[in-house]
Amino acid sequence: MIGIICAMRQEIEEILVFTKEIKEECYRNFKFIRGNIFGTECVLSLCGIGKVHAAMCTQTLIMKYNPDFIINVGVAGGIAPEIKIGDIAIASGVVQHDFDISSFEGRKKGEIAGIDLIEIETTKWITDKILVCSKSINPIQIHTGTILSGDQFICSPQKLTELKNEFGGIACEMEAGSIGQVCYMNKKEFGIIRSISDHADNSSNIDFDKFIKSSSKNAANILSNFIKSYRD
Ligand code: ADE
Repeated sequence: MIGIICAMRQEIEEILVFTKEIKEECYRNFKFIRGNIFGTECVLSLCGIGKVHAAMCTQTLIMKYNPDFIINVGVAGGIAPEIKIGDIAIASGVVQHDFDISSFEGRKKGEIAGIDLIEIETTKWITDKILVCSKSINPIQIHTGTILSGDQFICSPQKLTELKNEFGGIACEMEAGSIGQVCYMNKKEFGIIRSISDHADNSSNIDFDKFIKSSSKNAANILSNFIKSYRD
């Protein structure tokens, strides 16, 4: 069974389009949808926005369904200058950009206390496979790199520059870092597929609303290709 996590209704809806034999369950305030995607049993979950929601949902998903691995799918703001709205960002790793204990000697910004890592790497075979599946979807551009998460919707060029300088990264959003941390702590394999809805700049709130549906569809298409072929 594959566990799939989306933060928002618009993101999960594009996956439900190709999900069959749907059965809905609610557990600890989260909606879990069991279904069949191209012959593979999946459980889709709607976690809500932000790192705490995502962490709670990921832990619940693991404890209740014990999926073989987890894929987080949705939209993100673009950080890298060459990345355009509609492009795909595949995470090689995730960072929580708002985790900050750097006032203590020897600690760096983004370093997660207890784990002592800044970046948590996604599972290589999953990320490689997603990349291979994405190549066939033209004309969408694919980018791989670090995805930055924080409990902030980024809509300022200053903040964007700060994030770029501190962590690099290709895209920003609000859940992947905590999903990565929960997977890491549970030794659960995971991957992240995001499509760009905005440029995290002054007009990102407007672009987000305008492009969330089309970008969610792009991300869902990559997921569908992945599920069709991940066992090959
Ligand atoms: N998800 C999509 N766009 C985003 C942004 N600009 N900031 C944070 N999360 C996002």
